[in-house]
Amino acid sequence: MNITITPDEQSFDEAAARRIIGQIVSKKDSVICLSTGRTTGNMHRRIVEIYRDSAFDTSEVTITGVDEVVNVPKDYSGACYTMLRNEIAEGLEIKDENFIMLPTISDDFEKECTCFMKELERRGGIDLLILGLGENGHLGFNQPGTSFGSTARVTEMNAELEERIRRETKTPPEVWLGGVTLGLKDIMQAKKIILVAKGNGKAESVRKMIEGPLTEEHPASILRLHPDCEYLLDKAAASKL
Ligand code: GLP
Repeated sequence: MNITITPDEQSFDEAAARRIIGQIVSKKDSVICLSTGRTTGNMHRRIVEIYRDSAFDTSEVTITGVDEVVNVPKDYSGACYTMLRNEIAEGLEIKDENFIMLPTISDDFEKECTCFMKELERRGGIDLLILGLGENGHLGFNQPGTSFGSTARVTEMNAELEERIRRETKTPPEVWLGGVTLGLKDIMQAKKIILVAKGNGKAESVRKMIEGPLTEEHPASILRLHPDCEYLLDKAAASKL
């Protein structure tokens, strides 16, 4: 098992940033799928800083995201599109046609998911997938109990996240809020995966993912079946291993 433990958050962000840049430099037309949230924001900003100092070629790079919030405006600050645009896509001067995300609003998500997966396939599939980890073991919006065979689809989101988004977007209770996400089967098709987790709050989830049973009750445990998955952890997240 490929586990890297960094001494602190700064070296964690640096290590993740260097791996993503390494992918871009080694394959100019890489398809890079990212995760949003507290774990990944600083590593994205670090990549932009390095780009400003020593511009590497991003003209053919595709940036995409593992999931998106459903039924919020695309420019809401908590929408994955807006987060990735602000944190990394603009800073790396990624062309609009190469920044592809699942939509926040649609009357046919099934069709959107099919088109999105076809587009990724047309670009050669995901070369590098950076995955955040939920405290309950979720990957993207694949909550505990999701089938290992699941594919891209609309799903529920957890109650705390829903409450926060509802408050921030002033979405009335009659409007359903959820997520649209790559499924676990889609995730497993990425050529290379780096699971990133930092902080004490993730330590138990990290332990179950690596040392617990292989089970749909802890979706991230599926990564142990991937042929090229690295677990990049800070000391705190690795503290229960
Ligand atoms: C969210 C997102 C995931 C993200 C994960 C971890 O619910 N749907 O894509 O990777 O949870 O978020 P954080 O890094 O903020 O803990």
